[in-house]
Amino acid sequence: VTVRTPLLAGNWKMNLDHLQAIAFVQKLAWTLKDAHHDYTQAEVAVFPPFTDLRSVQNLIAADKLDIVYGGQDLSAHDSGAYTGEISGAFLAKLECTYVIVGHSERRQYHGENDELLNAKVKAALKHNVVPVLCVGETAEDLEEFGPSAVPVAQMRAALAGVSADANIVIAYEPVWAIGSGLAATEEQAEQVCAALRVALAEELGTDAAERTRILYGGSVKSTNIAGFMRQTNIDGALVGGASLDVAEFSSIARFQK
Ligand code: G3P
Repeated sequence: VTVRTPLLAGNWKMNLDHLQAIAFVQKLAWTLKDAHHDYTQAEVAVFPPFTDLRSVQNLIAADKLDIVYGGQDLSAHDSGAYTGEISGAFLAKLECTYVIVGHSERRQYHGENDELLNAKVKAALKHNVVPVLCVGETAEDLEEFGPSAVPVAQMRAALAGVSADANIVIAYEPVWAIGSGLAATEEQAEQVCAALRVALAEELGTDAAERTRILYGGSVKSTNIAGFMRQTNIDGALVGGASLDVAEFSSIARFQK
């Protein structure tokens, strides 16, 4: 049986400047240490804004903190005339372990479609940055197509042409649960994550499906994390609002499967 290391990740979105980020990560590391967080059993990641990444990198390296980090997006291109874009090569240079790809806010506000996200997944892999591919249905999708069809289709499209040994993470984030305080039930989340794992096996083979971590995201809090982590096919969480509060995020982050 493959043991999947749980991943508890905080997506800060457009919050915390680089000075606030330094204070936050320092406090988070102390709080986790105080709680005797067993770093060997779970991985804790933060996703700060781009302008924070260098400061976060320096702090984590200097203090040897067991926290990893990543960007919230990347360009599909490596370099060139793409004003405002950030390349996977730059993220790799900053020693980012991960990069979020296809968050619903990027899909919604920046028109990111399946084809672009497929290119972004490949760009991340090319630079050895692990893509955290977000998929999820809107309330209307749920009504029209049922629980799994849209997230599964989004995942298949984003993984087209990706090799079976690729290191990726999938995050199931129902759009209706994001920032709404209305999380999916653990049964709902498990049902979709199980369907995603079946589709992963079809796309990339059973080894990849066994190995790949699937996270749940959408109104995760310290009070509901346990229920999600109990599910067979949920290997961690991608946390938004609750990741901006040190006490709240560390009690989520210290959660063991
Ligand atoms: O990427 C995480 C996010 O979209 C979930 O946000 O605030 O509902 O935890 P939130």
